Amino acid sequence: MKLFKFFSQEIAIDLGTANTLVIQDGEVLIDQPSIIALNRRTRETVAVGQRAMLMHEKTHGNIETVRPLKDGVIADFDAAEKMIKGFINMITARRSFFSHMKMVICIPSGITEVEKRAVFDSADHVDSKETYLIYEPMAAALGIGLDVEEPVGNMIIDIGGGTTEIAVIALSGIVCDQSIRIAGDEFTLDIMNYLKKQHNLLIGERTAEQIKIKVGAALTELESPPEDLAVNGRDLMTGIPKQIYVTFKEVAESLDKSISKVEDAIMKALEATPPELASDIYQTGLYLTGGGALLRGLDKRISSKTKLPVHVAEDPLRAVVRGTGIALKNTDRFTFLIDRRNN
Ligand SMILES: Nc1ncnc2c1ncn2[C@@H]1O[C@H](COP(=O)(O)OP(=O)(O)OP(=O)(O)O)[C@@H](O)[C@H]1O
Ligand SMILES: [Mg+2]
Repeated sequence: MKLFKFFSQEIAIDLGTANTLVIQDGEVLIDQPSIIALNRRTRETVAVGQRAMLMHEKTHGNIETVRPLKDGVIADFDAAEKMIKGFINMITARRSFFSHMKMVICIPSGITEVEKRAVFDSADHVDSKETYLIYEPMAAALGIGLDVEEPVGNMIIDIGGGTTEIAVIALSGIVCDQSIRIAGDEFTLDIMNYLKKQHNLLIGERTAEQIKIKVGAALTELESPPEDLAVNGRDLMTGIPKQIYVTFKEVAESLDKSISKVEDAIMKALEATPPELASDIYQTGLYLTGGGALLRGLDKRISSKTKLPVHVAEDPLRAVVRGTGIALKNTDRFTFLIDRRNN
């Protein structure tokens, strides 16, 4: 048994549209952007994660950067597998000695059967011998310390890069859920489009994301507003670089439509919640996880829309991977884990 343990490796992966996190024995070993740089000709990996991100939108003819996931699911299988391999190699150089690899991978709840099978296949290709999948809101609930096996309803709202997942969880299952493909990436695009329209300023994805993080807001009134941010880009009229100042109010305006869609999905999920569970949620409130939970004023905005208390998870970017790690330790017990047979 000991020998077997020595030769085995157990990891939990949150393969997100924006970030990939890997946890082993409760310790987060990888927390990097989901991106890979490839040699355009040979398709060999040049860099993964942070190093590849530095090259993003700055590449030349020989190198291309790829974000293998789109809307929460794998859009480029070859690139996704190479990226996962790259991350796994970072954790252990002795990888080839491990005879047994067990993995729990987190997936969005709106995933199709075909997409699910593709995730299993990718795990096979990186030599996983025992693979389980877990739905993202379930992982998020575990990650923030909720007891998902209790006969008590909890609503989780995970706003990631590609998807917003809203789910009511009780008795080890997802009672009802809404998954929409509007989340952080869409917010970033909204900011790019707004600056193009309002200021004739062309900016890249990375700059737009920085604007969102530094002066992003869900409300035009904030208690402690961030200072205006200097943004550099290219003037659409003259074609030369220029600088403007962006305020949080402008960002809130640019994000308003997308946030309304998130709110609509939350309202739908609440309407679909059975009354007994709705009464639990009335007391416990809503839990926000994922990077989108960090948007200024979002908790307040959702709270005034739903008239319910809204809690932002502590370290919302890591809630899902922590929960996936807890699932890894309980694969014998948690009936909600998906393996190839019950897929
Ligand atoms: N402070 C912040 N304010 C607003 N948005 C933020 C902040 N920090 C990170 N984000 C956004 O959160 C998103 C990433 O969140 P997260 O890592 O939870 O997504 P993911 O798990 O990779 O995506 P998905 O679950 O949809 O596949 C990105 O769009 C990022 O721009
Ligand atoms: Mg996620």
